[in-house]
Amino acid sequence: MRARTAPAGWYDGQVAIVTGGGSGIGAALVRSLRTAGATVVVADLEPGADGVKLDVTDAAAVQELVDDVVREHGRLDLLFNNAGISLIGETQDLSLAQWNQIIDVNIRGVVHGVAAAYPVMLRQGGGHLVNTASMGGLMAAGLLTSYVMTKHAVVGLSLALRSEAAAHGVGVTAICPAAVETPILDKGEFGRVRGRDYFLKGQGIRRPLDPDVLAARTLAAVAAGEALVVEPVQSRVAWRLQRIAPGFTQRASVKFVAKQRQLAARRS
Ligand SMILES: NC(=O)c1ccc[n+]([C@@H]2O[C@H](COP(=O)([O-])OP(=O)(O)OC[C@H]3O[C@@H](n4cnc5c(N)ncnc54)[C@H](O)[C@@H]3O)[C@@H](O)[C@H]2O)c1
Repeated sequence: MRARTAPAGWYDGQVAIVTGGGSGIGAALVRSLRTAGATVVVADLEPGADGVKLDVTDAAAVQELVDDVVREHGRLDLLFNNAGISLIGETQDLSLAQWNQIIDVNIRGVVHGVAAAYPVMLRQGGGHLVNTASMGGLMAAGLLTSYVMTKHAVVGLSLALRSEAAAHGVGVTAICPAAVETPILDKGEFGRVRGRDYFLKGQGIRRPLDPDVLAARTLAAVAAGEALVVEPVQSRVAWRLQRIAPGFTQRASVKFVAKQRQLAARRS
């Protein structure tokens, strides 16, 4: 059963860090958490007025931020490892530097957060790690290969750690949305494939998810201790289909890539 709202008062007085909190999904999580009564530290490469500057690829900086928050507030209840980037295009056009960059931000960034915050939560005997993965962490389609790889890693880390952390009162949730209306939809294009075409037209989605709706649903899921947040409903249907008939979804992915190439060719 998917929870729609967090119980009243659940987030009151909780201390949270949101990486990538300066934009998009992260900014929506910050708004929702603050409305629910949490104290939130916004951490981002581009933090805006009320945030701290943080590069999640810098392990020492992530550790320092967690230490600072624990020193100042006495605890850390929630870490949202949300900062991420995308790269979209033909894999042969991807440079090694780009592969390394997406691994550094999307995988190592999450590892740095877990390495710094999980021991704190174990000592406290409670806390929750919330990792932003993607539908690309549950299903695989080409032209987004490096991103899909990183998000599968985030889902794997989250589900495995969840089973280990449960006995210590620490929760782990991975967020796996399809397209969400944020600037990332128009970033990371290194060839002719366009992010919006890929995430919307290509998948038959007419309108991306509203980040505030996703954030509210995420806070409800975290409070309920859910493992995965898969939104919207079409994504849950597609994911179920993949588990029932993986061969079918692989063949559909081949067609999907062909369609994307056609769309890209029409533009040139
Ligand atoms: N928007 C979508 O359709 C969608 C779907 C599924 C998953 N996601 C994931 O959601 C997360 C948030 O993305 P978004 O859609 O809000 O995009 P966004 O581009 O609006 O926000 C990403 C934020 O992360 C920050 N960031 C990037 N690299 C960083 C670094 N090294 N250190 C610290 N901060 C860094 C950026 O400055 C930005 O503020 C990402 O992990 C993304 O992969 C997005």
